[in-house]
Amino acid sequence: LATALTLGAMALGTQTAMAACDDGEMVIKFAHVVAATGHPKGDAATMFADRVNEEMNGVACMEVFPNSTLFDDDKVMEALLLGDVQLAAPSLSKFEAYTLKYRLFDLPFLFGDLDAVSRFFATDTAKDLLLATEDVGYTGLGYWSSGLKQFSANKPLLMPEDGNGLKFRIQTSDVAEAMINAMGGSAQKLAFSEVYGALQTKVVDGQENTWSNIYTQKFFEVQDGITETNHQLLAYLLVTSTEWLDSLDAEVRDQFLTIAEEVTIAANDSVAAQEAANRQNILDAGGTIRELTEEQRAAWIAAMKPVWAEFEGDIGADNIAAAEAANA
Ligand code: LMR
Repeated sequence: LATALTLGAMALGTQTAMAACDDGEMVIKFAHVVAATGHPKGDAATMFADRVNEEMNGVACMEVFPNSTLFDDDKVMEALLLGDVQLAAPSLSKFEAYTLKYRLFDLPFLFGDLDAVSRFFATDTAKDLLLATEDVGYTGLGYWSSGLKQFSANKPLLMPEDGNGLKFRIQTSDVAEAMINAMGGSAQKLAFSEVYGALQTKVVDGQENTWSNIYTQKFFEVQDGITETNHQLLAYLLVTSTEWLDSLDAEVRDQFLTIAEEVTIAANDSVAAQEAANRQNILDAGGTIRELTEEQRAAWIAAMKPVWAEFEGDIGADNIAAAEAANA
């Protein structure tokens, strides 16, 4: 079952987890863009595949394609509808073309910590939002948290205005663009696989991401330092095509959905520890991390607060209130 693509990926030295699919088994392909291991999403995808391959052996098998080896996050959404892949987990920031409701998750300083995020994911509001892209053919199976984001740049960033005049790579998110503008910087939307090169060649000056992405992609090696801002959530929608899901036999679908749910819980439970470990890995590898004083943090929050008003109409004040309530 080694496809040309897989062989190509192997030849390039990228890690591609392949399951041995037997004849007659339904093949479930899961494409994502991050590291295969040592990362909340990479590890969750592997856990998912291991369980499907063991518990659904003979009926289904799952192959995971990490590191953008099969599709980037833009292409993967089309590929789901075409049936070229059955599972993806793009960040919620990348759904602008499908729903504006997920702008909620990008609001700066919305969640105080990952526990608040977990509490919000358990609410009816969040569960309803899983189906925000149903009208365009997708079913959200769960939220996979990945951590809070930190800023890095080629100079120290202690106050939001330190970003003045700098260019930051962002995901395809207008909320992120507004956030960078609020710092006086300019934003450039780039695919994840292009970020390291863009930082290295100084096409952009800085970026924002989780400890796990900053460590596993080695962004810290091509930046002056990282500022512990915890300014925004990075979380994924585990997403599939509704047509594909509906095509499964009821029993098979139930078993698959149960595994998806259990993996989602386990993955979210281990994110905080993995993020802390990757923060430490950055320090151990010689990276610089700058912490903010209370006053500096207050300045970041104040600078970015106007961004909320800009997007409240798309998101809905009730959804914002429900997310804020999870901090209590
Ligand atoms: C990014 O593009 O920075 C992230 O969405 C990548 C990821 O999937 O964590």
